[in-house]
Amino acid sequence: MTTTKTLALACLLAFAAPTFAQQTVSAEEQAMLEEEARLEAEEAALDDTPRLDPNAPDPAPAFPELRPVLEDFGGREGLDRLMDTFMAGLLTDERMGPFFANSDQERVKRQLAEQFCAILGGGCEYSGRDMKSSHAGLGIDRADFNRLVEVLQVAMNEHKVPFRAQNNLLAKLAPMHREIVTE
Ligand code: HEM
Repeated sequence: MTTTKTLALACLLAFAAPTFAQQTVSAEEQAMLEEEARLEAEEAALDDTPRLDPNAPDPAPAFPELRPVLEDFGGREGLDRLMDTFMAGLLTDERMGPFFANSDQERVKRQLAEQFCAILGGGCEYSGRDMKSSHAGLGIDRADFNRLVEVLQVAMNEHKVPFRAQNNLLAKLAPMHREIVTE
């Protein structure tokens, strides 16, 4: 190889090598970004953040005048305890069991306690979905709705919630059948 040729090759390598190296890093970075985006998309698909229907009514309207009723339920802690009994009742009920068997039961219990606490003027924040979105596609009919209320009543009785307090809560839940019952 002549000196000129060697020099030319050295120059070429000196300029081309960093570019080539940079391209390799970029390609790696690109691959990483693509992988990140893929993982993010996967996560988003699994994400159960509220899918809010802008036309659905407030799922947890607060009634500050019902604050004493919340005390009858034993406050927020009382509601958490009630949900354990309620969910156990739902799961063992012939009609309700199939609806809840494959649901995220811990999440549903937490959302229900939040929702009831907010409705009963406890100042709790309801972080769940609206009633229309969360029950869409479940095929709930009126008899299913009534049965759920019965199972809730059994749980409230077991927790010695006064009859009047039970009815105060149920009166606020009853109109929700419009969003929940679809059959
Ligand atoms: C007044 C009556 C009802 C209230 C207040 C209520 C409330 C709720 C709440 C707060 C959630 C959680 C929402 C979320 O995941 O963000 C939920 C979920 C659910 N509810 Fe209801 N519900 C009622 C009636 C019913 C009835 C009658 C059924 C079935 C017969 C039912 C079946 C379910 C199921 C299966 C889920 C879980 C859905 C999922 O994991 O995607 N609910 N409900």
